[in-house]
Amino acid sequence: MSIDSILGDFDLLKPMVMRASAQSGLFDIVASSQLTFDEIVESLDYLDPYTLRLLIQALDEYGYMLIKDDKVLLTELGKTLARNIAFINSVTSRSTASGLFSYAPLALHERLERGANYFELSHKEQYWQLVNRDPNLYASFEQGYSGNFDSDSLLDRAQLTKTDELFKARNILELGSGYGDTAYFILKSGFSGNITVSDLSNRIPVLTAQSRWQDFQGRVYISAIDFFTDPIPHHSTILLDSILADWDDDQCIILFRRIRSAIKENSGKLVISEVTRFSNDDGIDAIGKLTLACAVSGRVRSEEEVENLIRTAGYTKITLAGSSEHRFTLVAY
Ligand SMILES: C[S@@+](CC[C@H](N)C(=O)[O-])C[C@H]1O[C@@H](n2cnc3c(N)ncnc32)[C@H](O)[C@@H]1O
Repeated sequence: MSIDSILGDFDLLKPMVMRASAQSGLFDIVASSQLTFDEIVESLDYLDPYTLRLLIQALDEYGYMLIKDDKVLLTELGKTLARNIAFINSVTSRSTASGLFSYAPLALHERLERGANYFELSHKEQYWQLVNRDPNLYASFEQGYSGNFDSDSLLDRAQLTKTDELFKARNILELGSGYGDTAYFILKSGFSGNITVSDLSNRIPVLTAQSRWQDFQGRVYISAIDFFTDPIPHHSTILLDSILADWDDDQCIILFRRIRSAIKENSGKLVISEVTRFSNDDGIDAIGKLTLACAVSGRVRSEEEVENLIRTAGYTKITLAGSSEHRFTLVAY
Protein backbone atom coordinates (compact mmCIF):
# COMPACT_ATOMS: atom_id res chain seq x y z
CA MET A 1 0.00 0.00 0.00
CA SER A 2 1.39 3.41 -0.85
CA ILE A 3 1.55 6.23 1.67
CA ASP A 4 -0.69 8.28 -0.64
CA SER A 5 -3.64 6.06 0.22
CA ILE A 6 -3.65 7.22 3.84
CA LEU A 7 -2.73 10.86 3.30
CA GLY A 8 -6.42 11.82 3.25
CA ASP A 9 -6.73 10.53 6.81
CA PHE A 10 -4.53 13.40 7.94
CA ASP A 11 -6.73 16.07 6.43
CA LEU A 12 -8.48 17.55 9.45
CA LEU A 13 -10.32 20.12 7.41
CA LYS A 14 -12.38 17.65 5.42
CA PRO A 15 -14.78 16.53 8.18
CA MET A 16 -15.35 20.16 9.09
CA VAL A 17 -16.05 21.00 5.45
CA MET A 18 -18.58 18.15 5.28
CA ARG A 19 -20.21 19.21 8.50
CA ALA A 20 -20.43 22.90 7.59
CA SER A 21 -21.80 22.11 4.14
CA ALA A 22 -24.46 19.73 5.43
CA GLN A 23 -25.54 22.11 8.17
CA SER A 24 -25.67 25.26 6.10
CA GLY A 25 -28.00 23.71 3.55
CA LEU A 26 -25.43 24.18 0.82
CA PHE A 27 -25.90 20.68 -0.58
CA ASP A 28 -29.67 21.11 -0.71
CA ILE A 29 -29.35 24.38 -2.61
CA VAL A 30 -26.90 23.02 -5.14
CA ALA A 31 -28.93 19.80 -5.53
CA SER A 32 -32.21 21.57 -6.19
CA SER A 33 -31.12 24.40 -8.49
CA GLN A 34 -28.72 25.32 -11.21
CA LEU A 35 -27.41 28.47 -9.59
CA THR A 36 -24.21 30.28 -10.36
CA PHE A 37 -21.46 30.62 -7.82
CA ASP A 38 -22.55 34.22 -7.02
CA GLU A 39 -26.24 33.31 -6.74
CA ILE A 40 -25.45 30.59 -4.20
CA VAL A 41 -23.38 32.98 -2.12
CA GLU A 42 -26.22 35.53 -2.30
CA SER A 43 -28.87 32.99 -1.29
CA LEU A 44 -26.89 32.16 1.85
CA ASP A 45 -26.38 35.82 2.75
CA TYR A 46 -26.26 35.16 6.49
CA LEU A 47 -22.98 33.29 6.01
CA ASP A 48 -19.62 34.96 5.61
CA PRO A 49 -19.25 35.27 1.81
CA TYR A 50 -15.48 34.93 1.82
CA THR A 51 -15.57 31.68 3.81
CA LEU A 52 -18.54 30.38 1.86
CA ARG A 53 -16.73 30.87 -1.44
CA LEU A 54 -13.72 28.99 -0.10
CA LEU A 55 -16.00 26.26 1.20
CA ILE A 56 -17.55 25.73 -2.23
CA GLN A 57 -14.12 25.73 -3.85
CA ALA A 58 -12.90 23.22 -1.27
CA LEU A 59 -15.90 20.98 -2.05
CA ASP A 60 -14.86 21.15 -5.68
CA GLU A 61 -11.30 20.16 -4.76
CA TYR A 62 -12.57 17.27 -2.58
CA GLY A 63 -14.66 16.04 -5.50
CA TYR A 64 -18.17 16.68 -4.14
CA MET A 65 -18.99 19.67 -6.32
CA LEU A 66 -17.88 20.88 -9.69
CA ILE A 67 -17.53 24.56 -10.55
CA LYS A 68 -18.00 24.69 -14.30
CA ASP A 69 -18.70 27.79 -16.44
CA ASP A 70 -19.59 29.65 -13.24
CA LYS A 71 -22.26 27.06 -12.40
CA VAL A 72 -21.95 24.85 -9.34
CA LEU A 73 -22.95 21.22 -9.87
CA LEU A 74 -22.90 18.13 -7.72
CA THR A 75 -20.62 15.28 -8.72
CA GLU A 76 -21.89 11.68 -8.34
CA LEU A 77 -20.23 11.63 -4.91
CA GLY A 78 -21.92 14.92 -4.02
CA LYS A 79 -25.31 13.59 -5.19
CA THR A 80 -24.97 10.59 -2.90
CA LEU A 81 -24.21 12.94 -0.04
CA ALA A 82 -27.08 15.30 -0.91
CA ARG A 83 -29.54 12.39 -0.83
CA ASN A 84 -28.37 11.49 2.66
CA ILE A 85 -28.02 14.83 4.42
CA ALA A 86 -30.07 13.75 7.45
CA PHE A 87 -27.84 10.72 7.86
CA ILE A 88 -24.65 12.75 7.39
CA ASN A 89 -25.88 15.24 10.00
CA SER A 90 -26.56 12.52 12.53
CA VAL A 91 -23.24 10.79 11.90
CA THR A 92 -21.19 13.96 12.05
CA SER A 93 -23.01 15.09 15.21
CA ARG A 94 -21.63 12.02 16.88
CA SER A 95 -18.12 12.23 15.53
CA THR A 96 -15.19 14.55 15.88
CA ALA A 97 -16.59 16.41 12.90
CA SER A 98 -19.48 17.65 14.99
CA GLY A 99 -19.93 21.39 14.78
CA LEU A 100 -19.87 21.54 18.55
CA PHE A 101 -16.48 19.91 18.68
CA SER A 102 -15.03 21.15 15.45
CA TYR A 103 -12.33 22.90 17.46
CA ALA A 104 -10.99 19.63 18.78
CA PRO A 105 -8.13 19.18 16.33
CA LEU A 106 -6.86 22.65 17.17
CA ALA A 107 -7.15 22.22 20.91
CA LEU A 108 -5.76 18.70 21.39
CA HIS A 109 -2.19 19.90 21.32
CA GLU A 110 -2.69 22.37 24.19
CA ARG A 111 -4.53 19.84 26.33
CA LEU A 112 -1.93 17.15 25.75
CA GLU A 113 0.95 19.47 26.55
CA ARG A 114 -0.84 20.81 29.63
CA GLY A 115 -0.88 24.27 28.04
CA ALA A 116 -3.46 26.99 28.57
CA ASN A 117 -6.99 26.09 27.58
CA TYR A 118 -7.30 26.65 23.85
CA PHE A 119 -10.47 28.72 24.14
CA GLU A 120 -9.15 31.05 26.80
CA LEU A 121 -5.91 31.37 24.85
CA SER A 122 -7.43 31.99 21.44
CA HIS A 123 -10.85 33.45 22.19
CA LYS A 124 -10.44 34.89 25.68
CA GLU A 125 -13.53 33.04 26.80
CA GLN A 126 -14.62 29.60 27.73
CA TYR A 127 -15.93 26.94 25.42
CA TRP A 128 -19.53 27.15 26.59
CA GLN A 129 -19.68 30.94 26.26
CA LEU A 130 -18.52 30.56 22.72
CA VAL A 131 -20.83 27.68 21.85
CA ASN A 132 -23.90 29.34 23.36
CA ARG A 133 -23.30 32.53 21.40
CA ASP A 134 -23.31 30.68 18.10
CA PRO A 135 -26.78 29.52 17.06
CA ASN A 136 -25.34 27.06 14.55
CA LEU A 137 -23.21 25.41 17.18
CA TYR A 138 -25.91 24.95 19.74
CA ALA A 139 -28.35 23.92 17.05
CA SER A 140 -25.90 21.11 16.31
CA PHE A 141 -26.14 20.10 19.96
CA GLU A 142 -29.89 19.79 19.72
CA GLN A 143 -29.54 17.94 16.46
CA GLY A 144 -27.03 15.54 17.91
CA TYR A 145 -29.25 14.63 20.78
CA SER A 146 -32.62 14.51 19.10
CA GLY A 147 -31.37 12.72 16.04
CA ASN A 148 -32.16 9.19 15.05
CA PHE A 149 -31.16 7.57 18.31
CA ASP A 150 -32.94 7.59 21.61
CA SER A 151 -30.94 9.97 23.75
CA ASP A 152 -33.03 9.37 26.88
CA SER A 153 -32.10 5.72 26.92
CA LEU A 154 -28.56 6.22 25.60
CA LEU A 155 -27.90 8.68 28.43
CA ASP A 156 -29.86 6.52 30.89
CA ARG A 157 -31.97 9.45 32.12
CA ALA A 158 -34.34 6.93 33.76
CA GLN A 159 -31.79 6.67 36.57
CA LEU A 160 -32.79 10.17 37.63
CA THR A 161 -36.44 9.26 37.99
CA LYS A 162 -35.40 6.40 40.29
CA THR A 163 -33.59 8.85 42.55
CA ASP A 164 -36.22 9.67 45.18
CA GLU A 165 -34.37 12.72 46.51
CA LEU A 166 -34.87 14.22 43.07
CA PHE A 167 -38.03 12.72 41.65
CA LYS A 168 -40.06 13.16 44.81
CA ALA A 169 -38.81 16.69 45.50
CA ARG A 170 -41.31 19.54 45.47
CA ASN A 171 -38.95 21.97 43.74
CA ILE A 172 -35.81 21.38 41.77
CA LEU A 173 -33.25 23.93 40.67
CA GLU A 174 -31.19 22.56 37.81
CA LEU A 175 -27.91 24.36 37.14
CA GLY A 176 -26.46 24.27 33.62
CA SER A 177 -29.61 22.79 32.07
CA GLY A 178 -28.33 23.13 28.52
CA TYR A 179 -31.16 22.51 26.12
CA GLY A 180 -33.37 21.39 29.00
CA ASP A 181 -33.66 17.75 27.93
CA THR A 182 -33.09 16.40 31.43
CA ALA A 183 -35.73 18.66 32.98
CA TYR A 184 -38.15 17.77 30.22
CA PHE A 185 -37.48 14.06 30.73
CA ILE A 186 -38.12 14.35 34.46
CA LEU A 187 -41.38 16.22 33.84
CA LYS A 188 -42.66 13.86 31.18
CA SER A 189 -41.81 10.90 33.42
CA GLY A 190 -44.39 12.08 35.97
CA PHE A 191 -42.49 14.42 38.26
CA SER A 192 -45.19 16.46 39.99
CA GLY A 193 -43.25 19.39 41.47
CA ASN A 194 -41.81 22.59 40.03
CA ILE A 195 -38.53 22.83 38.22
CA THR A 196 -36.30 25.81 37.51
CA VAL A 197 -34.02 25.32 34.55
CA SER A 198 -31.03 27.63 34.41
CA ASP A 199 -27.92 28.23 32.39
CA LEU A 200 -25.60 31.00 31.25
CA SER A 201 -27.55 34.03 30.06
CA ASN A 202 -26.63 33.42 26.43
CA ARG A 203 -28.31 30.01 26.56
CA ILE A 204 -31.60 31.36 27.89
CA PRO A 205 -33.19 32.31 24.54
CA VAL A 206 -33.02 28.71 23.33
CA LEU A 207 -34.61 27.52 26.56
CA THR A 208 -37.46 30.04 26.56
CA ALA A 209 -38.28 29.50 22.89
CA GLN A 210 -39.33 25.89 23.45
CA SER A 211 -43.04 25.17 23.20
CA ARG A 212 -42.69 21.84 25.01
CA TRP A 213 -42.77 23.62 28.38
CA GLN A 214 -46.40 24.54 27.71
CA ASP A 215 -47.39 20.97 28.61
CA PHE A 216 -46.30 21.78 32.17
CA GLN A 217 -47.64 25.28 32.55
CA GLY A 218 -46.90 27.07 35.77
CA ARG A 219 -44.37 24.44 36.85
CA VAL A 220 -41.34 25.38 34.76
CA TYR A 221 -39.26 28.48 35.49
CA ILE A 222 -36.32 29.63 33.43
CA SER A 223 -33.52 31.61 34.95
CA ALA A 224 -30.08 32.91 33.90
CA ILE A 225 -27.58 31.75 36.50
CA ASP A 226 -23.82 31.59 36.05
CA PHE A 227 -23.05 29.01 38.70
CA PHE A 228 -19.56 30.42 39.28
CA THR A 229 -20.38 34.10 39.58
CA ASP A 230 -24.09 34.65 40.26
CA PRO A 231 -25.68 34.10 43.65
CA ILE A 232 -27.24 30.62 43.63
CA PRO A 233 -30.77 30.94 45.03
CA HIS A 234 -31.52 28.93 48.17
CA HIS A 235 -33.22 25.70 47.25
CA SER A 236 -33.90 22.35 48.82
CA THR A 237 -32.94 20.26 45.77
CA ILE A 238 -30.25 21.31 43.35
CA LEU A 239 -29.41 19.18 40.33
CA LEU A 240 -26.20 19.05 38.34
CA ASP A 241 -26.49 16.75 35.35
CA SER A 242 -23.43 16.20 33.16
CA ILE A 243 -21.70 19.34 34.37
CA LEU A 244 -18.62 18.12 36.21
CA ALA A 245 -16.90 16.60 33.20
CA ASP A 246 -16.46 20.16 31.90
CA TRP A 247 -14.44 21.35 34.87
CA ASP A 248 -11.11 20.53 36.54
CA ASP A 249 -11.00 19.35 40.16
CA ASP A 250 -10.52 22.81 41.68
CA GLN A 251 -13.45 24.25 39.75
CA CYS A 252 -15.69 21.34 40.77
CA ILE A 253 -14.81 21.96 44.42
CA ILE A 254 -15.56 25.68 44.10
CA LEU A 255 -18.93 24.84 42.53
CA PHE A 256 -19.78 22.30 45.26
CA ARG A 257 -18.93 24.85 47.95
CA ARG A 258 -21.12 27.49 46.33
CA ILE A 259 -24.00 25.04 46.14
CA ARG A 260 -23.43 23.96 49.71
CA SER A 261 -24.17 27.46 50.93
CA ALA A 262 -27.28 27.55 48.72
CA ILE A 263 -28.96 24.30 49.75
CA LYS A 264 -31.34 24.69 52.63
CA GLU A 265 -29.94 23.69 55.95
CA ASN A 266 -31.30 20.39 57.30
CA SER A 267 -33.43 19.66 54.24
CA GLY A 268 -31.29 20.58 51.23
CA LYS A 269 -29.79 18.00 48.87
CA LEU A 270 -27.39 18.23 45.98
CA VAL A 271 -28.03 15.61 43.30
CA ILE A 272 -25.11 15.01 40.98
CA SER A 273 -25.47 12.83 37.94
CA GLU A 274 -22.71 12.21 35.46
CA VAL A 275 -22.70 10.38 32.16
CA THR A 276 -19.75 8.04 31.87
CA ARG A 277 -20.24 6.68 28.37
CA PHE A 278 -21.19 8.86 25.45
CA SER A 279 -22.02 6.10 23.05
CA ASN A 280 -23.17 2.52 22.84
CA ASP A 281 -20.59 2.04 20.17
CA ASP A 282 -17.26 0.92 21.65
CA GLY A 283 -15.49 2.29 18.61
CA ILE A 284 -16.27 5.91 19.45
CA ASP A 285 -16.42 6.08 23.24
CA ALA A 286 -12.81 7.18 23.77
CA ILE A 287 -13.03 9.44 20.72
CA GLY A 288 -16.01 11.19 22.30
CA LYS A 289 -14.25 11.66 25.62
CA LEU A 290 -11.06 12.87 23.97
CA THR A 291 -13.06 15.35 21.93
CA LEU A 292 -14.67 16.72 25.07
CA ALA A 293 -11.24 16.95 26.71
CA CYS A 294 -10.12 19.20 23.86
CA ALA A 295 -12.98 21.58 24.47
CA VAL A 296 -13.03 21.85 28.23
CA SER A 297 -10.59 21.51 31.10
CA GLY A 298 -12.46 18.74 32.92
CA ARG A 299 -12.60 15.01 32.47
CA VAL A 300 -15.00 12.12 32.73
CA ARG A 301 -14.63 10.85 36.30
CA SER A 302 -15.63 7.69 38.12
CA GLU A 303 -18.15 7.85 40.95
CA GLU A 304 -15.33 7.42 43.51
CA GLU A 305 -13.42 10.35 42.05
CA VAL A 306 -16.48 12.59 42.21
CA GLU A 307 -17.25 11.41 45.73
CA ASN A 308 -13.75 12.44 46.85
CA LEU A 309 -14.24 15.91 45.39
CA ILE A 310 -17.57 16.25 47.16
CA ARG A 311 -15.98 15.30 50.48
CA THR A 312 -13.17 17.80 49.93
CA ALA A 313 -15.83 20.48 49.45
CA GLY A 314 -17.18 19.74 52.93
CA TYR A 315 -20.21 17.52 52.39
CA THR A 316 -20.35 14.72 54.92
CA LYS A 317 -23.31 12.64 53.77
CA ILE A 318 -22.98 11.14 50.32
CA THR A 319 -25.01 8.28 48.94
CA LEU A 320 -24.85 6.51 45.62
CA ALA A 321 -28.40 6.69 44.30
CA GLY A 322 -27.79 4.91 41.02
CA SER A 323 -25.06 3.40 38.93
CA SER A 324 -25.10 1.82 35.50
CA GLU A 325 -22.80 1.42 32.54
CA HIS A 326 -23.73 4.89 31.28
CA ARG A 327 -24.31 7.02 34.34
CA PHE A 328 -24.03 7.34 38.09
CA THR A 329 -25.99 9.53 40.48
CA LEU A 330 -24.84 10.74 43.87
CA VAL A 331 -26.83 12.58 46.52
CA ALA A 332 -24.86 14.81 48.87
CA TYR A 333 -25.65 17.13 51.76
C1 LIG B 1 -22.64 19.33 29.07
S1 LIG B 1 -23.88 20.57 29.10
C2 LIG B 1 -25.04 19.79 30.16
C3 LIG B 1 -26.43 20.18 29.83
C4 LIG B 1 -27.52 19.46 30.60
N1 LIG B 1 -27.34 19.51 32.02
C5 LIG B 1 -27.67 18.03 30.14
O1 LIG B 1 -27.43 17.11 30.93
O2 LIG B 1 -28.03 17.83 28.98
C6 LIG B 1 -23.16 21.80 30.12
C7 LIG B 1 -24.01 23.05 30.30
O3 LIG B 1 -23.41 23.87 31.31
C8 LIG B 1 -23.59 25.20 30.94
N2 LIG B 1 -22.62 26.05 31.63
C9 LIG B 1 -21.30 26.16 31.38
N3 LIG B 1 -20.75 27.03 32.24
C10 LIG B 1 -21.74 27.46 33.05
C11 LIG B 1 -21.79 28.37 34.14
N4 LIG B 1 -20.69 29.01 34.57
N5 LIG B 1 -22.99 28.58 34.74
C12 LIG B 1 -24.11 27.94 34.31
N6 LIG B 1 -24.12 27.06 33.28
C13 LIG B 1 -22.94 26.83 32.66
C14 LIG B 1 -23.41 25.20 29.44
O4 LIG B 1 -23.95 26.37 28.84
C15 LIG B 1 -24.12 23.92 29.06
O5 LIG B 1 -25.46 24.17 28.76
